[in-house]
Amino acid sequence: MKVAVLISGRGSNLRSLLEAAAEPGYPAEIVCVIANRPDAGGLDHAAAFGIASQVVDHKSYADRAAFEAALTEALDGAGIDLICLAGFMRVLSGAFVRRWKNRIVNIHPSLLPLFPGLDTHARALAAGVKLHGCSVHFVNETVDGGAIIGQAAVAVQTGDDAESLAARVLEAEHRLYPLCLRLLAEDRVRLDDGQARIEGTPEAGSALFSPDLSA
Ligand code: GAR
Repeated sequence: MKVAVLISGRGSNLRSLLEAAAEPGYPAEIVCVIANRPDAGGLDHAAAFGIASQVVDHKSYADRAAFEAALTEALDGAGIDLICLAGFMRVLSGAFVRRWKNRIVNIHPSLLPLFPGLDTHARALAAGVKLHGCSVHFVNETVDGGAIIGQAAVAVQTGDDAESLAARVLEAEHRLYPLCLRLLAEDRVRLDDGQARIEGTPEAGSALFSPDLSA
């Protein structure tokens, strides 16, 4: 499976995907990285792994349609099967999403459908949830609303602030995204009535507890 990764910034999730894809036998190949900001730090990770990268700077285009036309041209040229959004902070139009229907996935820093949108960690703390985490999902026309492929939960700890919680979630993101991309590339993800079903994967344990009940 040939994959394009779209980024806007630091690119630590991109790096986790590049590291996974460099492992022998990993079923997806990252063929291009596109950033919508020329200063995206993740461009350095693409260079370090010898992967072609491009900047399609949204500020250089008159409107979203023109920006997305440039994005589509870059993606078509790369001959890709799947787009992975990895900290890509532009909302994609319905037209773009339909063009790549069921071929765009995203990682979001919350246990969706809780906390779609921005500032997820601060909002999780304000809500007093005990478990937080991240989700990999298909992109549809509702922001952070597509079928969920995989999730990882982390415990909210006493004294957490948004930064410490984000760091714990990010570690989980770096494990979850390569796992979900593997499932997609192995063609083990089936969309069924708006839900993503995973074939041939053992079910997780029946529950995660926070606080831990072993004490
Ligand atoms: C990650 O936490 C990702 O889940 C989040 O941005 C961060 C990017 O970090 N994405 C979103 O909030 C998308 N709405 P990275 O550039 O180091 O991968």
